[in-house]
Amino acid sequence: MNAHWPNADFSAWSRAIAEQVENGLHTFLPPEQEHPARLHQAMRYAVLDGGKRVRPLLAYAAGELFDAGPDATLRAACAVEMIHAYSLVHDDMPCMDDDALRRGKPTVHKAYDEATALLVGDALQAQAFAVLSEGELAQQAPARALHSMRLLAAAAGSRGMCGGQAIDLESVGKRLNRPELETMHRLKTGAMLEVSILLGAWAGRQPQAQELAALKDYAQAIGLAFQVVDDVLDATEDSAQLGKTAGKDAADNKPTYVTILGLDASRALAQELQQSAHDALLPFGEKAQRLHQLADLIVQRKA
Ligand code: IPE
Ligand code: IPE
Ligand code: MG
Ligand code: MG
Ligand code: MG
Repeated sequence: MNAHWPNADFSAWSRAIAEQVENGLHTFLPPEQEHPARLHQAMRYAVLDGGKRVRPLLAYAAGELFDAGPDATLRAACAVEMIHAYSLVHDDMPCMDDDALRRGKPTVHKAYDEATALLVGDALQAQAFAVLSEGELAQQAPARALHSMRLLAAAAGSRGMCGGQAIDLESVGKRLNRPELETMHRLKTGAMLEVSILLGAWAGRQPQAQELAALKDYAQAIGLAFQVVDDVLDATEDSAQLGKTAGKDAADNKPTYVTILGLDASRALAQELQQSAHDALLPFGEKAQRLHQLADLIVQRKA
C-alpha cells in the first residue's frame, strides 16, 4: 500500500526530532565519568546513538497536535525511549531472548556483563520517571505531569509491557490462538507505543474525551501493527538489515503472527491496521499529518 500522506518533508522532520531527542537523552542521562562510571557508561551505550526512535517521534507528533511546549514534549519523548531501551536490554539477556546483537552493536550484557545489563535496565526505568517529575510541565501543571507518570507506570508494568514479556516467555513452544497472541502483542509492544502518544498529548493542552478516544483507536492500531511487522521482519530480513539477530523467533520456537497466520496474511493484517489508524485520525484533520505519516512508516519499514 502506498503512503496516504505526502512524505516530502517527513524525513527532514523526523531527522530534526531525532537530533533533539539525542541531545535530550544526552543531558538526562548521568555523565559517563560519574561514579559508578561503568554503569553510567553502559546506560549511555544502551540508549544513545541507535534505534529508530519511533516512540519519541510518536510523542512529538501527538505533542504537535495538542500544542505541547518544547520542554514537556522532549521529556515525554526521552522518558518513553528510556523505558523502551531498558526493555530491550532486558529482552536480550540470556534469561529472556538471549541475543548478542542490538541496534547493530553487541547487546549490553555482551559488551559489559549480565549484572550490569540488569542494573542498566533498572536505572533507566527510574531515570525515566525522574525526567517526567521535573521540568516545565511538572512545575506549571503538576496534575498533568503526575497523570503522565501514572500512565507510563501502567504501560511499563505487569499490566503492560512487563506483563506482555511474561506471556511471551511462558508461550515458548506453545501454539497460542489468535486472541491470545493479540493480547500478548498489545501488552508487550502496543502499551509502550500507546503511552508515547498519550504522553505527547498530555504534554500539551488537556485532551477532550473524544480526542482521547480517537488517539487510543489510532494507538491500538499502530501498536499491534508494529509487532506484527516486527514478526514479519524477523522472518524475512537479515541481521545486517535489522541490526538484531534475524530468524530468532523461529529459532526460539516463539508463537508469532507469522507462525499463526503466515506471511501474506500477516502483511495484509498490518495493512488493515494501517488503514484503521488513518481512519481513527480523521476527526483531527490535516493537523494530524505526522501521526498519519508515522502509521505509514510503522507498517512500511524494513528494519
Ligand atoms: C523493537 O523495537 C522491540 C519491539 C517492541 C518489537 P524497535 O523496532 O522500535 O527497536 P529500536 O528502538 O528501533 O531499536
Ligand atoms: C520485545 O519483543 C518487546 C520488548 C522489548 C518489550 P521482541 O523480543 O520481538 O523484540 P526484538 O525482536 O528482540 O526487538
Ligand atoms: Mg522478546
Ligand atoms: Mg527479543
Ligand atoms: Mg521480535
